[in-house]
Amino acid sequence: MKDFLIAPSILSADFARLGEDTQAVLDAGADIVHFDVMDNHYVPNLTFGPMVCKALRDYGITAPVDVHLMVRPVDQMIESFLKAGASYITFHAEASDHVDRSLQMIRAGGAKAGLVLNPATSPSCLEYVMDKLDMILLMSVNPGFGGQKFIPATLDKARKVREMIDASGYDIRLEIDGGVGVQNIREIADAGVDTFVAGSAIYGADDYADVIKQMRSELAG
Ligand code: DX5
Ligand code: ZN
Repeated sequence: MKDFLIAPSILSADFARLGEDTQAVLDAGADIVHFDVMDNHYVPNLTFGPMVCKALRDYGITAPVDVHLMVRPVDQMIESFLKAGASYITFHAEASDHVDRSLQMIRAGGAKAGLVLNPATSPSCLEYVMDKLDMILLMSVNPGFGGQKFIPATLDKARKVREMIDASGYDIRLEIDGGVGVQNIREIADAGVDTFVAGSAIYGADDYADVIKQMRSELAG
């Protein structure tokens, strides 16, 4: 099993103090920053774009930034986030007209490329692009909002996708997003996930370091 990464979603951070609240979760022990981009078109909510990613870099955030694009169309935002300092860029399979091309654009621009599967999306969409993936992100809620309940069927999908990754021989991270917390992180890891997005579970706590520590101790157990 690969090393586990904890990726707080800054969707649940204090937007008025975003730089500070992003650095705070990193100081508390997080590994990467999950950056949720919503366009009020592909998903029914609106957040932030490449200028905010660049601003976090300028503020001094040096950790990997994991940009989760919930936008349509996709390709223009890939270009913009490559320039804005994204480390990972993931997009939804249904949102790109040409998935293979969008994945190639991300790697050609020097970032790690990933595809996102909604709760009802089949893993079959991964089959012919495994060689172009650095990350697969499984949505365990319907995208658009933080604080939703984990959809249990995602565990079965995670097991299937873990098998696909292992059979492929490629080095691909398996990430999960939505409804993740101390209470279910172990079960999710047992299904083959190695990268955990958590928004409300971390930012909703008084002590970020304590929640992250509890998550790591569940993962170690
Ligand atoms: C939902 C976002 C998630 C969300 C997770 O569309 O992609 O990253 O912020 O939030 P929690 O952990 O609160 O479910
Ligand atoms: Zn996300």
